[in-house]
Amino acid sequence: MERSLLPRHIGIIMDGNGRWAKKRLMPRTAGHVQGAKAFRKCLRHCADIGIECVTFYAFSTENWKRPDEEVGAIMKLFSEYLDEALGMDDKDIIMRFIGDRSRLSEKLREKMLRIEEDTAANINGTICCIAVNYGGRDDIVGAVQELIAEGYDWSDVTEDAISRHLDTRGLPDVDLIIRPSGEQRISNFLIWQAAYAEYVFMDVLWPDFTEKDLDFALEEYAKRNRRFGGV
Ligand code: IPE
Ligand code: IPE
Ligand code: MG
Repeated sequence: MERSLLPRHIGIIMDGNGRWAKKRLMPRTAGHVQGAKAFRKCLRHCADIGIECVTFYAFSTENWKRPDEEVGAIMKLFSEYLDEALGMDDKDIIMRFIGDRSRLSEKLREKMLRIEEDTAANINGTICCIAVNYGGRDDIVGAVQELIAEGYDWSDVTEDAISRHLDTRGLPDVDLIIRPSGEQRISNFLIWQAAYAEYVFMDVLWPDFTEKDLDFALEEYAKRNRRFGGV
C-alpha cells in the first residue's frame, strides 16, 4: 500500500478475550493467553510494514473491577511478555508504555523502564506503545495536574500544552482505532488523541485477530475521506 495512505498512528483495543474463551468452555484467562499471542503477531506485522506507531490497549483504569484472579493472570502475562521483550534484540521496535504505573508492582515498573531504555535507540523502528492501567480521562487529569505543578498561567493552557503533557507526548495523534469483538465504543482509550481518528469495528474476537484482519482495517482506512472539519 502507498505510504501516504497508511495511518501514522494506529490504536488497537484488544477486546474479546473472555468471549473467545467462553465459546470454548475455557476459563477467561485462557483467552488472555491467546490474546497475548495475537498481540505479538500483530506487532510484528506492524513493524514489517513500517507503521510509525501502534498503541495496544492492554488494561484500562476500569479493568481493576475484575476478579483478583483475572487481574493477576493479566499482570502475569504482561510480566512474561516484558521478560521476553528484555531478551529481544529487535532493532525495528521502540517500546513505550502509557498509563499510570503507580499501581503496578515495583518489579513490573523496573522492567518497563529498562525496556524503554534498551529500545530507545531504534529510532527508525515502529513505536510500540502498550497502554497498561491507562484511562483517557486519567491521562487528561494527569496532564492538567502537571501543568499546575509547573506553574502554567491559565492563558498558557492551550491544546498544544495539554497534548505535550499527556502520556503520548511526542507521538502523532491517533489516526485509526481498530476495535475487534463487535463492541462499538472507545472505553476510555485515547479520548483526547482520537479527536479526529477513523474507527474500524470488527466482529473478530481479539485472540483470532490475524495479519489479514489488520490489512483489512488498513484498506478500509485508506478509503476514508478525512476532512478535519474542512471541506
Ligand atoms: C480484553 O478482553 C482484555 C482486557 C480487557 C484486559 P476481555 O477480557 O474484555 O474480553 P471480553 O470482552 O470479556 O470478551
Ligand atoms: C477495553 O475493553 C479495555 C481493553 C481492551 C484493555 P473492556 O472489555 O474493558 O471494555 P468494555 O467494558 O467492554 O467497555
Ligand atoms: Mg471486553
